[in-house]
Amino acid sequence: MSNFKLLFIVPGMLVSAALQASGKVSAPPDPTYVQECGSCHVAYPARLLSGSSWRTLLAGLDHHFGVDASLEAEALTDISRYLDANARRRETSGGDGKPILRITETRWFRHEHDDVPEATWKLAAVKSAANCSACHTRAEQGSYSEHDIHLPK
Ligand code: HEC
Ligand code: HEC
Repeated sequence: MSNFKLLFIVPGMLVSAALQASGKVSAPPDPTYVQECGSCHVAYPARLLSGSSWRTLLAGLDHHFGVDASLEAEALTDISRYLDANARRRETSGGDGKPILRITETRWFRHEHDDVPEATWKLAAVKSAANCSACHTRAEQGSYSEHDIHLPK
């Protein structure tokens, strides 16, 4: 009964694998990624953009949405590897075929957030759709579960 033994030894790992499979929690956060890419905004879930979107974004960090987010070569290599391994399998590209750099501009995002009232996006507490944690109270912990959503009024 080797399965039993495994369950006994690594319950934590099994739980996190199950959560990942259910889409409630993103891949185990890479410490370098969280540190370097989670300082100005939440460390966005890797699975929400394709590998080519992440690669294009990382190639332009010196002009990253109006800021300089350049990295040391070593950190950049670690982060590239992490994002590549955990990226969305399906392409996230626009009508022109070019990789989309914003999660918030993907068809998936728009569809998923269809029901959010127009006025909510404009609230001072939200400001930008990229400000995930304004509504996803545990975005910082990588959870986007429906139980952890609280729309600001
Ligand atoms: C110096 C601050 C800073 C750092 C460091 C930073 N970013 Fe950003 N990032 C921004 C700003 C500013 C925006 C635009 C936010 C907005 O539109 O509200 C942004 C937006 C993004 C978006 C688009 C969000 C969306 O869907 O609209 C992604 C993806 C992103 N960053 C990834 C990263 C990654 C990956 C790293 C690490 C390599 C990183 N960022 C590091 C400042 C930063
Ligand atoms: C203005 C509030 C708001 C902001 C900002 C926001 N979301 Fe959401 N998000 C929601 C709501 C509300 C839902 C639930 C939609 C539904 O189920 O009808 C949702 C659903 C989701 C889901 C699906 C959850 C599930 O279990 O079905 C994911 C994943 C998600 N959002 C990720 C993000 C990410 C990543 C960002 C930032 C780039 C973001 N959201 C920004 C309000 C927001």
